[in-house]
Amino acid sequence: MSRYLITSALPYINGVKHLGNLVGSMLPADTYARFQRARGNEVLFICATDEHGTPAELAAHEAGLPIDEYCAQMHVLQRDLGNRFGLSFDHFGRSHSPQNHEITQHFYHQLDQHGLLEERTTRQVYSIGDGRFLPDRYVIGTCPHCGYERARGDQCENCTRVLDPADLIKPRSAVSGSTNIELRDSKHLFLKQSQMVGRLREWIDSKKDWPVLVTSIARKWLDEGLKDRSITRDLTWGIPVAYQDKVRPGFEGKVFYVWFDAPIEYVGATMEWAEATKENWRRWWREDQGAADVRYVQFMGKDNVPFHTVGFPVTLFGSGEPWKVVDYVKGLNWMNYYGGKFSTSGNRGIFMDQALELLPADYWRWYLLANAPESDDSNFTWQHFQATVNHELADVLGNFINRIAKFCTARLGAVVPEKGEYGSLEAETTSALEQRLSTLTRLMEAMDFRKSATELRSMWVIGNEYLQKAEPWVTMKTDPVSAEVSIRYALNLAMVFAAIAQPFIPDASAKIRKAFAGSEGPPAWPGNLTDTLKPKATITVPDVLFAKIENEQLATWIERFGGPDKKNGAS
Ligand code: MF3
Ligand code: ZN
Repeated sequence: MSRYLITSALPYINGVKHLGNLVGSMLPADTYARFQRARGNEVLFICATDEHGTPAELAAHEAGLPIDEYCAQMHVLQRDLGNRFGLSFDHFGRSHSPQNHEITQHFYHQLDQHGLLEERTTRQVYSIGDGRFLPDRYVIGTCPHCGYERARGDQCENCTRVLDPADLIKPRSAVSGSTNIELRDSKHLFLKQSQMVGRLREWIDSKKDWPVLVTSIARKWLDEGLKDRSITRDLTWGIPVAYQDKVRPGFEGKVFYVWFDAPIEYVGATMEWAEATKENWRRWWREDQGAADVRYVQFMGKDNVPFHTVGFPVTLFGSGEPWKVVDYVKGLNWMNYYGGKFSTSGNRGIFMDQALELLPADYWRWYLLANAPESDDSNFTWQHFQATVNHELADVLGNFINRIAKFCTARLGAVVPEKGEYGSLEAETTSALEQRLSTLTRLMEAMDFRKSATELRSMWVIGNEYLQKAEPWVTMKTDPVSAEVSIRYALNLAMVFAAIAQPFIPDASAKIRKAFAGSEGPPAWPGNLTDTLKPKATITVPDVLFAKIENEQLATWIERFGGPDKKNGAS
């Protein structure tokens, strides 16, 4: 048994997440966590809301709530939506938790002790128009590297380069649009990451199995020359620049930068989990206390890669303590909505709560995973969604399950038939399926979810083809024993399908297992095709697993959310 620490990038607190966020980290992370649990491994799957920074402040202001109340409410909302999507977090924490305060301030202290922090007076953007310092991402302007005109002061989302607001050409306030802004002096703490370039490069170079998407982003950053980075901000909402309750002199009214404390919340959330469950968090995070044999896998969208391959590792290495660092980074591209970005601020696309108003989680999970933006960006369209649900879920898996359940109930007394022996058709089918199963297992280990979905679907197709060839509805009249053989075989196949589909569509998987085996408990990942159903056991017909999406429904949804016309819509 191996141990897996799995983290998903922490969703920002400001508002319900859209399906692009879901498929960009939380959903693939969940699928992998479910797979590793099914393999019998020990898994700790951690996520949390990312609660600091100005987006949170502004969203709270807009909602007319004090920031702490706003965060508390939004956290519950996001946690519940995650549950309803079947995201099987062991803990879904909060970056504003006391635990994260403690551990963030601990890292600050360690970095300080090791001489990696330096006070520098910086020129900060102050918006006279808004009457406040503007955080980096609320200064927008033209990217000096690629010329993108809406680059944010922290990062250009077009070329992914990390920026400083002062780099921007023609800067303006994103809060008000005001160009009435000026630079003012303010003292901040800088993390001397430039001292760690060699160590980071060596570490990245040792990761031969990482996706090129990830290593190329990390290398680009190192090649550009790693600048020392300010880890504090002129804000009130956040983690105070303090250690053991003593604020660092001159840093009153300042807090750590959200990108400093957010990844530390992976540890903080584990501490929250440990407190709630009386477990030991160090076993997962401290190499000197049991974490050396943990395999740590992180999931994130490509814009997050620099912060996880450079920023966070600098904190961990720089502490001088034996912290667990990531073993594998699964970075994903974007899923677009009709060729344009899903956008929270532009209210474009489908949000998690809206999606569940339309259809149960499994429909969405399947579509998103089968089209996960892995090798490239992928694209959501309603027509594609309809075709995927109807042809893959309803026609293939749903049809297979429904046919055998109904036939068994109508003709064989709703019990697993016991007569007869498997013959050559079953042997051939088993061998074809076992070959695919081993490919699927390899693809799942490699976190190749899109290809895994293709493999799964092919296995369901083989199940249907088997029924077409075996024709129990015909042999029932001519050779009833042969019909019993076919149905026994098919029911057992259904159990295998339920087990291997579980990481993707957990609710449908549970329905099948409940109907055929009377148990819903999470199934083990099968190594090969062996019968698990006891002859003569009673079965029931599951409720319709997947209903087809009708054209009329689709038309209403397109009307509500916008279709192809959204392509060039403003964000
Ligand atoms: N909230 C960030 C985003 O949505 C991700 C933070 S990941 C963390 O892009 F590791 F920093 F927490
Ligand atoms: Zn750029």
